[in-house]
Amino acid sequence: MKHILLAAVVAVAASGVSAVGPLYLDPKQPVERRVDDLMERMTLDEKIGQMCQYVGLAHMREAEKNATAEELAAGHARAFYKGLSSYDVEAMTARGEIGSFLHVLTATEADHLQKLAAESRLKIPVLIGIDAIHGNGLVRGSTIYPSPIGLASTFDPALVEQSARQTAVEMRATGSHWAFAPNIEIARDARWGRVGECFGEDPCLVSAMGVATVRGLQDAGALACVKHLVAGGVPNNGTNAAPVEMGEGELRNAFLPPFKAAVEQAQPWSMMPAHNELNGVPCHSSSWLMEYVMRREYGFAGISVSDWMDMEAIASKHRVAANTKEAFLLSVLAGVDVHMHGPEFAQDMKELIEEGRLPASRVDEACRKILEAKFRLGLFENRYTDPAAAKQTVFSAGHRNTALELARRSIVLLKNDGILPLDKTKYKKILVTGPNADCQATMGDWVFDQPRENYTTILDGIRAQGAAVEFADVGWNLRTISDQAVRAAVAKARACDLTIVVVGEDSFREHWTEKTCGENRDRWDITLWGRQQELVEAIHATGKPVVVVLVTGRPLAVKWIADNVPALVQAWEPGSTGGQAVGEVLFGAVNPSGKLPMTLPAHVGQTPIYYNYKPTQYFRTWIDGTRDPLYPFGHGLSYTSFAYSDLKVEGQLPYTVTVQVANTGTRAGEEVVQLYLRDDVSTFTRPVKELKGFLRVALAPGEKKSVTFTLAAADFSYYGPDGKLRLEPGAFTVMAGGSSRDAALIKTAINYGD
Ligand code: BGC
Repeated sequence: MKHILLAAVVAVAASGVSAVGPLYLDPKQPVERRVDDLMERMTLDEKIGQMCQYVGLAHMREAEKNATAEELAAGHARAFYKGLSSYDVEAMTARGEIGSFLHVLTATEADHLQKLAAESRLKIPVLIGIDAIHGNGLVRGSTIYPSPIGLASTFDPALVEQSARQTAVEMRATGSHWAFAPNIEIARDARWGRVGECFGEDPCLVSAMGVATVRGLQDAGALACVKHLVAGGVPNNGTNAAPVEMGEGELRNAFLPPFKAAVEQAQPWSMMPAHNELNGVPCHSSSWLMEYVMRREYGFAGISVSDWMDMEAIASKHRVAANTKEAFLLSVLAGVDVHMHGPEFAQDMKELIEEGRLPASRVDEACRKILEAKFRLGLFENRYTDPAAAKQTVFSAGHRNTALELARRSIVLLKNDGILPLDKTKYKKILVTGPNADCQATMGDWVFDQPRENYTTILDGIRAQGAAVEFADVGWNLRTISDQAVRAAVAKARACDLTIVVVGEDSFREHWTEKTCGENRDRWDITLWGRQQELVEAIHATGKPVVVVLVTGRPLAVKWIADNVPALVQAWEPGSTGGQAVGEVLFGAVNPSGKLPMTLPAHVGQTPIYYNYKPTQYFRTWIDGTRDPLYPFGHGLSYTSFAYSDLKVEGQLPYTVTVQVANTGTRAGEEVVQLYLRDDVSTFTRPVKELKGFLRVALAPGEKKSVTFTLAAADFSYYGPDGKLRLEPGAFTVMAGGSSRDAALIKTAINYGD
């Protein structure tokens, strides 16, 4: 009897049916077998369906409600699909024709979509993707961490990893599983509106932040997506998606390292190609980038998802395909697995296979990876959200604390003539003004409106410090500051002892038509927008002291302010608790410790400007302006002072580098110790310095610590113009200090290879 039962079980297993139903629904089976079993049951249409992504229903319904007749006729522009209503999309989901959604903004909608998918023949759950770039900001009620440029300013990858972990928990609690993050492009051009969602200009720092983000997201049950491959941070005119021409050496030395590091050290589940073309090939149809570099060379094994309508752009914008169908073919053959977003793709894919132009095996390959992700996420077992868990985790005290700590560490004190920290006994009445003082510009891009009780504005944060505060409201809209508002602020400034002016940019997504920074808000001028400069100058002219706080997602060329105002604070976009952090820094409850992850230009004419330039970059310089940046990469002041000594390089490869850093002031403080390397003589030109390591250290007054780094062979190597890795023995200069500025660095010479 026992034998018969066993034989029956074996027979059932071989046919792919077990006591709990089909094998792929049995969680005890290995994922590979579950995928095999499911794939065998799928029709071609169902497999193609897995490659199809659509926007969320609420998003569509909003568009259906608000779109003009022209917009509706134009189709995709606002998430409205030509000839397809949100009800049709629901029906398609229930037929198993859609593999994933993006921008589903509530748990209710996520559960609804999963329920529809559960009605389909094979009950395959849908993946839900979202731009959770610094917290799950498109969802109301989430914890908003500082924008990535601020996260990078912390030089604290461990804390950034923690924020990514918390973001994943909040995403899962509200039904999303796939973060379209991190953005690990190297941002060199401040005109480009997206620099705020990147980690700055340096490959070493961006790599560390990228690895941390991927790890954090994936450890806590979300798929990460490294994007955008590649070089979109140096568009040839500063505008999003403009072409990029670049030699392979520069590409591999400066732009690809974060992707390499992320793949090798954290295995991201997905990647997204860039909008731009690279050397004449749209990134969305570049098999060299996706197949050769990412998959074969680096070992990327995940899903490649197209960016928003960028497969179509291969035909409509780049014009290297005659029509959309040809564009889909190029893109899928080059390695893209998921189409973001909308109809036509499925039909064209099917035709291409029937015509024998696209091998069905390519669809199998894409489908297999998508299913594997769904199995590994546990979606077949539990596809629904848990409202009780959501209550415990979303915007929890622990998450808010991480956001606060990151905001504190992200704030960069650019200039201080001794006025900060503010003395409440000296400045008895303080005026706060400026468009960014009391609004959600502090939230940054990829965030929708948050409940008022969930965030502190900078005005709130200053008030919480217990000073007597007046507020002169000039309105949050940078485009509409009135004469009268400027005059009223100036009058109030005269009656106060000091004014804090909060100016900058607005990347907040909710301010869709007013925003000046963020995605698709590129500028040809990077001074203060509108009348903000006039406001600062008018208040300065009162003769009363002025402190300027910059809330911005991009470097701003505020030379007049740096030259004339006694204190300047770069707050970036510090998130939910950012106002509190700014208040604490201004009044000294927190000693600032952020460092610039991107060089601040003195003038737009200097862009792109970055610290790791080649030796002849400034051989000749401009006749009408300085070559010096406003503030260099790595710069950031403290209320205490630090001194560096005894830089030593010892041992054999990997070398051990030690440097002593001492707190020479009277306050406890944190310093970001930076290690740079220069190849003194090389076959091909090399940058004047490159960051090779960094460490944040806490020092009590008078305390001295020894900081150790290692330099391995890879740190001395570089790619030549032919794309080949070179490791050349010879003289190198090792530098350590608290900024990339030469005068801030101590140096020693070594001979690599001796
Ligand atoms: C952006 C991507 C983003 C996608 C989905 C695109 O416009 O370039 O970074 O993930 O939209 O929101």
